[in-house]
Amino acid sequence: MTTTAHLSLRYDAASERVLIVDQTRLPHDFIERELASLDDACEAIAAMWVRGAPLIGVTAAFGVYLALKPQVGASRAVLASAIERLAATRPTAINLRWALDRVAAQLADVDDSILCESALGCALALHAEDIATCAALGEQGAERLSQLWEAKCAAAQSAGLAAPTQLNVLTHCNAGALATVDWGTALAVIYKTQARGVPIHVWVDETRPRNQGASLTCWELGQRGVAHTLIVDNAGGHLMQHGLVDCCVVGSDRTTLNGDVCNKIGTYLKALAAFDNGIPFYVALPISTIDFTLRDGLSEIPIEERAGEEVSHITGRDDDGRVCRVQLTPDATRVSNYGFDVTPARLVTALITERGLFEANAESLSALHAQLDAQAVG
Ligand code: MRU
Repeated sequence: MTTTAHLSLRYDAASERVLIVDQTRLPHDFIERELASLDDACEAIAAMWVRGAPLIGVTAAFGVYLALKPQVGASRAVLASAIERLAATRPTAINLRWALDRVAAQLADVDDSILCESALGCALALHAEDIATCAALGEQGAERLSQLWEAKCAAAQSAGLAAPTQLNVLTHCNAGALATVDWGTALAVIYKTQARGVPIHVWVDETRPRNQGASLTCWELGQRGVAHTLIVDNAGGHLMQHGLVDCCVVGSDRTTLNGDVCNKIGTYLKALAAFDNGIPFYVALPISTIDFTLRDGLSEIPIEERAGEEVSHITGRDDDGRVCRVQLTPDATRVSNYGFDVTPARLVTALITERGLFEANAESLSALHAQLDAQAVG
């Protein structure tokens, strides 16, 4: 089961084409684009036609297939150089490296004569796995949010107050179906909670500079009939101080063994405000987003720096319906544009994964790692 008719990335078996939703065109235009080559796959990731940690991993897997497709008797050298190029497209999200490692491992022992079809098989398997994983972690998170809703109703009743009308969840960036093949991570939790009958309302951070909250999260929540309100990035603390946020749920691009969470720039400030106001701060992520090789998010995760024009300019639709780009700043303003920040583990209430909720600390994640290792051996 999927959340809509449109997946962020799909393989059309009849025409043997890889198709993606071009996210740079949303919310004003919904356009599918074909990725026909390795160059296309690299550009799609680097230019953010596709984005979000899980989706760039799956796209990279299809990129390997596309690199091998035109080769007669595809060579190992083509495979190696495709993996190297794809891995360099974006530095922060670990899922890219994780997906490429998976593909490389699975192709290591196959006969060269079936390299291309095996690469396609790997990409399709990752595609299916991503959908199932996100649906599962959504259910895990929905269990917790349903408990929060019950607690909110019970607290109001015992205080003799009117029954609450909604559970207010704040999210940052787009950790939705658009950031994965389907369902999303943070937004999967929201979709699954709503499906349980909880009246949920989402505060959507606009998420400057690229505005993935305003353009993507608002679009997909609207498509799926989830009540939501767009806020500027600086509004969250104020809403929390006034009791208007029941919990935060965000995604992650990389989580370290000690539970530090790297996510879109600005996540850290939301976590600080949540902590100060005693509001639970959840991070929803597939286990593929955990980098078990790193112990400290602050010093070890490479933080992507992007073009200053993402900050100095903005794209939108004008009153005549034309999509255009305008400059916000004086000419020659110096801009710095860090794409991600790290939220220290101590600010994270729990990590919501497809295997359940985990505490954001080394003890809990080491136990998970050992469990995964034991399963791989057994
Ligand atoms: O730069 P982006 O748009 O790729 O950043 C995306 C995010 O920060 C998401 O929150 C993260 O990838 C988790 S997505 C399920």
